[in-house]
Amino acid sequence: MSSNLLRGRVGVVTGASAGIGEAIARELVSHGCPVVLNARRRERLEAIRQELGDEDVAIAAGDCAESAVIETMLNTARDTFGGTGKPAGGLRDADLVVINAGRGLGGTAITSDESQWDDMIRTNIVAASRMIRAAGKRMLAMQPDSAIGHDPEKHAWLKAPRDIVILGSVVGRHVSPFSSFYSATKAAIQTLAEGTRRELGPKGIRVTLIEPAFVTSEFQGVAGYTTAWYESMVEKFGPMLMPQDIARLVAFVVSQPSHVHLSDALIRPTRQEYP
Ligand SMILES: NC(=O)c1ccc[n+]([C@@H]2O[C@H](COP(=O)([O-])OP(=O)(O)OC[C@H]3O[C@@H](n4cnc5c(N)ncnc54)[C@H](OP(=O)(O)O)[C@@H]3O)[C@@H](O)[C@H]2O)c1
Repeated sequence: MSSNLLRGRVGVVTGASAGIGEAIARELVSHGCPVVLNARRRERLEAIRQELGDEDVAIAAGDCAESAVIETMLNTARDTFGGTGKPAGGLRDADLVVINAGRGLGGTAITSDESQWDDMIRTNIVAASRMIRAAGKRMLAMQPDSAIGHDPEKHAWLKAPRDIVILGSVVGRHVSPFSSFYSATKAAIQTLAEGTRRELGPKGIRVTLIEPAFVTSEFQGVAGYTTAWYESMVEKFGPMLMPQDIARLVAFVVSQPSHVHLSDALIRPTRQEYP
């Protein structure tokens, strides 16, 4: 359902060429928030831009672990969409950054494919950390200390919500029996998100961790799960979540008034009892 709920916000979504990231980007646009899309497969991002239009979508393709790509994402957001409701003297930076790009890997430290370790750690932990740092610094710069307080008449932050939303996983909290090494990367993200929330929350910036369980997407193929295994999981736990289920949750979280923070949301298919 479309609305103007997020009109005036400026969004960035990493890992937006497929799955959860694409669904979040579409959801934000449907609520009036223009977004910069990032992922490595540029042609997929171009197809989404063609469909949704230049007014709502810009592209910053590339590996989200590279600092230069992160800077391009944030600069593109500011230069393309930061003019709406801008303060005197300049363009606004992104105020709704979704750190979604990530990947799974079946197995444990002993059984998983070691050749995939560096890529998983780099995408799930290093890239997310770099984006938290880069986006967090820009959001802090938009938030003078004098603006932080409880009085809506005096304190501008109460009219300008700022969000960093991070995709963790249920298995970062409840160790996965199928992929404990991947779990370890999402446990790291859980700690990083909570630490950053404690640092930035008092300055009026919400840092939210979304922890999904099984969501049907390209994730299963990238993680190396066989079709037969995933079908057995669907049999046991299904219907699985779909990317749109996560996107609706993200839109709900970021559309709350600035003083309301649903900081951690764990979302499962109803029949999935564990993990
Ligand atoms: N699906 C699940 O069951 C599940 C459950 C819990 C948490 N999650 C988390 O949710 C997030 C999204 O997962 P998903 O299910 O949507 O997976 P997906 O369908 O495989 O999509 C992953 C997205 O990340 C992008 N990506 C991967 N590596 C990248 C890199 N180095 N630089 C830029 N983009 C990159 C991919 O695009 P390109 O290949 O074009 O770069 C793609 O757009 C991940 O963090 C995942 O760990 C998923």
